[in-house]
Amino acid sequence: MHNFEYFTPTRVIFGKEAEKETGRLVKEQNCKKVFLHYGGNSAKKSGLLDRVCRSLEGEGIEYTMLGGVIPNPHLSLVREGIEVCKKEGVDFILAVGGGSVIDSAKAIGYGAANEGDVWDFYDEKRSPKACLPIGTILTIAAAGSEMSDSSVITNEDGWLKRGYSNDKCRCKFAILNPELTYTLPDYQTQCGCVDILMHTMERYLNHGENMEMTDGISEALMRTVIKNARILKNEPENYEARAEVMWAGSLSHNGLTGCGTDGGDWASHQIEHELGGMFDVAHGAGLAAVWGSWARYVYKDSIERFVKFAENVMGIPHTENQEETVLAGIAAMEDFYRSVNMPTSLKELGIEVTDEQIGELAEKCTFFGRRTVGCVKALGKEDIIKIYEAAR
Ligand code: NZQ
Ligand code: ZN
Repeated sequence: MHNFEYFTPTRVIFGKEAEKETGRLVKEQNCKKVFLHYGGNSAKKSGLLDRVCRSLEGEGIEYTMLGGVIPNPHLSLVREGIEVCKKEGVDFILAVGGGSVIDSAKAIGYGAANEGDVWDFYDEKRSPKACLPIGTILTIAAAGSEMSDSSVITNEDGWLKRGYSNDKCRCKFAILNPELTYTLPDYQTQCGCVDILMHTMERYLNHGENMEMTDGISEALMRTVIKNARILKNEPENYEARAEVMWAGSLSHNGLTGCGTDGGDWASHQIEHELGGMFDVAHGAGLAAVWGSWARYVYKDSIERFVKFAENVMGIPHTENQEETVLAGIAAMEDFYRSVNMPTSLKELGIEVTDEQIGELAEKCTFFGRRTVGCVKALGKEDIIKIYEAAR
């Protein structure tokens, strides 16, 4: 087991009607003015936004609002939010929505608490000294941003989608009411389930030796998500299934399933982020579309971990032929993706990429030659091109 530091400072309020606690929780932050950030129409349509506003007003909390965050959130709206926060003396951000809203809120939090261009942090030019405190009311179980240290933003200038990780942006509290996810279209529910799975798979399929505790938690998490994703396909208002998936979403990306690992692989995420930047695809669907091609390209470099995954997560019976077991495990995962209408190729994802575009995606993925991605196998531009080609 590798040495590790486990830091999860986010207070979680989980369960039915949990959003009623919003006013009280914000009040405890002793802030003067709140910036209420939200996405498109879903939180308005469901009445959630109104309930949140009433909860803040009930505690006499002053707030200003900015909606319009889109999936794969844009830097331009982040800049607008920073302006508002600075002008209006905002000292707390409340994000109502999914990963995109929370990530936009985190970027605004960095921008409002530091001088200079916020993109510098995502471009790894410098580090922020602080971030405005953030609380969230989650409406989709997926990205895990409610407890993670990350934020992913797309810069429209060059369509660069970049993640930035720093503990300073971790949410002060996360309100998780599984009922708020009943209104999700099935496609978004399943994209979320893929993302949750992938956050644990990225850490589990690593180069390290076996870990009983962390591996056990990870395997239970993956089996739970697969089981409940199938239930939600037919029963979108099954509270228990929504609750299991929502809690899995937070645990999958708060660091718990990475404790003792070598940090995990993350190549699938990096390969998907470029697709999100260029084609604006839903993150979870993009991951499902490339994962199998990545797995088949790299499994020989960490075959024991892939065998363990196949047997303990996908239920492949033990045989002496490791390679056969691994390939059956990968195929079983792809069967699961298909069973919940998730794509397993770029074509099924709905995009046709030219050779030229594949070259550009791979170039961007290596930060224009400045890095390799992945740790099971360190991937350079040529490897990434092969994976995109195999995923076609
Ligand atoms: O904008 P609205 O109208 O709310 O619609 C959203 C959006 O269209 C809709 N939605 C959300 N809650 C709903 C709902 N529709 C009906 N009922 C509800 N209760 O769902 C759509 C997707 O929302 P989004 O926030 O984009 O989804 P998700 O949580 O999957 O976030 C995706 C973003 O997070 C990034 C991804 O790259 C992507 O940009 N990630 C962030 C991470 C992090 N910060 O730690 C890690 C992840 O790996 C990921 O990269
Ligand atoms: Zn993800």
